[in-house]
This record gives sequence, C-alpha cells and structure tokens, in this order.
Amino acid sequence: MPKVKIDGVEIEVAEGTTILHAARQIGGDLVPPAMCYYSSLKGSGGKCRTCLVKVTKGSEKDPRPMPKLMASCQTMVMDGMEVASKSDEAVTAARAGVVEFLLLNHPLDCPICDQAGECHLQDLAFEHGKATTRYEFERRTFEKIDIGPYIKLHMTRCIMCWRCVYLAQQLSPERVHGIIGRGDHAEISTYIEKSIESEFSGNVIDVCPVGALTDRTFRFKSRVWFLNPMNAHRDCPTCSGKAVAWMYGGEIFRITARKDHYGEVHEFICNTCRFDKKGAGDWTIEGPSNIDRHSVISQNHYEGASLTVR
Ligand code: SF4
Ligand code: FES
Repeated sequence: MPKVKIDGVEIEVAEGTTILHAARQIGGDLVPPAMCYYSSLKGSGGKCRTCLVKVTKGSEKDPRPMPKLMASCQTMVMDGMEVASKSDEAVTAARAGVVEFLLLNHPLDCPICDQAGECHLQDLAFEHGKATTRYEFERRTFEKIDIGPYIKLHMTRCIMCWRCVYLAQQLSPERVHGIIGRGDHAEISTYIEKSIESEFSGNVIDVCPVGALTDRTFRFKSRVWFLNPMNAHRDCPTCSGKAVAWMYGGEIFRITARKDHYGEVHEFICNTCRFDKKGAGDWTIEGPSNIDRHSVISQNHYEGASLTVR
C-alpha cells in the first residue's frame, strides 16, 4: 500500500486513493477545501481548483516535484509522495486566488441568503478572502427561477461546481437539467423549462455548496443558527428515512439529509421526507446532530470549546 506524507504527516492508504482522501484520513487543518468534489457523486471534482496542493516529491521511484499545483481531488497518491497543503505559501496564495475568482460574480448577499451559516464559499472566503474586490466589470445576474414547487434556483449565486447536475443524473430516471452555454454564459437550466420531478430531486439543495439551490418550503423562515439540528428517523418506504430535523422548540422548520464532517451526504432522502413531513409526530427524534464543522450553526447550542456534539 502506498505511503504519502502530507504536511509532514505520513499515512498509508489503499491503492487508488486521491491526495484529498488521504488528507481526510489524516484529518485536521491540512485537509484541502473542496467546493466541487463530492465523494458519493461519480464524476465530480476537477472543476473549482480550491483543493490545490503542491506535490514536492512525486514518488519514491520518481522523486521529482510536480511542476505545478495539483487538484488533490483528482491526483492519486503514489508510494513515497510528499505533499504540501496548509504549510505552503504558494498553495495558500492559489486558494486565495480561487476564492477571488469564485467571488467575481457571486453576490455578497449572505445577510439574506438561506445558505448563510452553512455555505462552504462563506467559510472559504472567511479564511482566504480579501476585504475588497479588484473586479471592475458588471457582475452577471439572472432572474430567480422556480424549479418545480420545492426548489428555487438563484443562478446569480451558482459557482458552476456541477454537483447538482451529477446528482440529478445519478438519482433521476430521466435527465432534465444540466448546464447550457459556455464560459461567462454558462448556466444551470432545466431543459424546456421542465421541473425536476424525481422523488429525490430535493437532494440538489443539500449538495449545492452555496445558496444557489434553496428549499422553497423553508426560505426566509429562520436563520439556520437559530434552529437545533436533531437526528431523526421515520419509517419511509422510499428512502432510509434517516434525516436531520431542524427544530425550534417542538416545531420542525426543515428536514435535510445527514451530512458528514465534510458536508457530504451519503444517504440521500426522498422528497416526501424532506418537504411533506414536518409535523413533530412524523419523526422519532434521536438527539442532537453531530455538527463539528467550524460553523456558526454550532454556536450557542452546545457548551465547551469543542464544537463536536455526539
Ligand atoms: S446550482 Fe449549486 S450545485 Fe448546481 S452547479 Fe451551481 S453551485 Fe453547484
Ligand atoms: S474540489 Fe478539487 S477541483 Fe474542486
């Protein structure tokens, strides 16, 4: 099994493991951010370049460094490889450049965006963003679109990560949404204005790293940090029925799938669970969800320096 050293920490991983996954196995600050890669979505990754790292030693056999920064979600570990992530200034500068690039057209409307508090771009901008912009041109803007009765698309906020497209492709029987146009004109579109009718379409909301796809049944009802995320389950004939109920007192404001430490869902939930079952009696509440991202959602809910709740 190949051994790789990331920021000086060595780990042995299975053949075919990417640098990103090896870093996740180590954990901590050295894990590169990932805005487009999503482990349960086939084909994802390689679009946003937020996960760049420096390969300072290619492998034991060929120790030459790689000539440019590499996307860690797409680069496989080789035996003897050495990688710099958090520890390298060029990597930090490149990530800052990517954030600046992603924010060229992304509006700074966090105060009114439903994704605020759980937005990966917000976290990234907090860590790497600049206080001002050098962009002098007019930002591209789009009208908001209702994709069916449950989902709102704010194309203006989209960062073209492709996650929702891969999700729709993999979970829906029929592909009705994708990206049309190129470059500055590229946009998410439902072909011939068809809504996404699949019973699993609501999962595009959970995989979207920004607030481009939001839940119409929850929009503007509450800020996420005022709610208590509770693990809950129900007997569902369509999906696993395992979800997170976002509660205020005894009232359920929204239902989402359960996310891991990196904000990824491994068990997608159906639209009935997500949008139609909001009565407290619909769910068996298990207890507080494990929120251990450095997220504002964790604030004020649980005591202690650690944000991990188990
Ligand atoms: S709508 Fe969201 S998930 Fe889809 S491409 Fe845009 S940012 Fe990614
Ligand atoms: S997460 Fe690797 S390129 Fe986007």
